Amino acid sequence: MPWNRRHLLTIEELSVAEIGQIHATAAAFKQILGQGGKSVPALRGQTIVNLFLEPSTRTRLAFEMAAKRLSADVIAFDAASSSTTKGETLRDTAENIRALGADMIILRHAAAGSPLYLSRLLDIPVINAGDGAHEHPTQGLLDTFTMQEHLGTLKGRKVVILGDILFSRVARSNIHALTKLGAAVTVVGPSTLVPQWFTALGVTVSHDLRGALAGAEVVMLLRIQHERQMAGMFPSLGEYTGMFGLNKARASWLDPQALIMHPGPINRGVEIDSELADGANSVILEQVANGIAVRMAVLYLCAGGNPEAIAATE
Ligand code: CP
Repeated sequence: MPWNRRHLLTIEELSVAEIGQIHATAAAFKQILGQGGKSVPALRGQTIVNLFLEPSTRTRLAFEMAAKRLSADVIAFDAASSSTTKGETLRDTAENIRALGADMIILRHAAAGSPLYLSRLLDIPVINAGDGAHEHPTQGLLDTFTMQEHLGTLKGRKVVILGDILFSRVARSNIHALTKLGAAVTVVGPSTLVPQWFTALGVTVSHDLRGALAGAEVVMLLRIQHERQMAGMFPSLGEYTGMFGLNKARASWLDPQALIMHPGPINRGVEIDSELADGANSVILEQVANGIAVRMAVLYLCAGGNPEAIAATE
């Protein structure tokens, strides 16, 4: 099936076949890198700009590594020393980056919808690296890629997402990816952070941690943001941890082989205890590592690359 998208803006708009195509291309790139290949010449001569206007460690570095493994020239935009601090608009910033010769922009921005906005202004691919509380599509793609490596098909798999669902772009992208791939998804946490209306996205909403975790094959923790407590979403971090933090006793309710996942950054001792984050069932660093191959696949496909050409080099 040919890839027909220039931009990656959301998982919501992707078909199951498109998700499968990204995963298959990522698997091919992972195999090439695993065989000792440091890079492929796929995007040689292209210039990719990492336009990150919010903090990031994993996503920014993984996109940078992915672009370099594809032999592209990659430029990291330094927001703190840029003219955005003088009030330059996103539109002007992006149009100037395009005028300087960029062939692709990867955007992280606090405003939901900003990648869609840029995609309508620019004649080059725009990749969403996280837009407000809306979506973080490459995170959802790398998370489901990691789950499939361990579990095979996700059809009927019991996946629990625990924590700050309401404000989480990671939760939204995973919900879209997992439900499209047939997983049985439960979102759980305090009712202030896990509103009932999430059922409209095809998931089960629960405020009963034990019931939700019972027999789950995957649990994905989300970072509890300190500012949520200031906004009165829960009384204190300690009380959140007491009610919903994942510790060894609560992890015993899971399937014994359950995968423990977290997109990072982790608040150790708040949403997850260190012994679980670093334990045998944790795949947190595998998620991070898989972020390179998955982002290589996204950059390659959106740049017009032929997935069959990559499969042929395996
Ligand atoms: N998972 C994630 O988006 O992490 P960063 O904010 O460090 O990119």
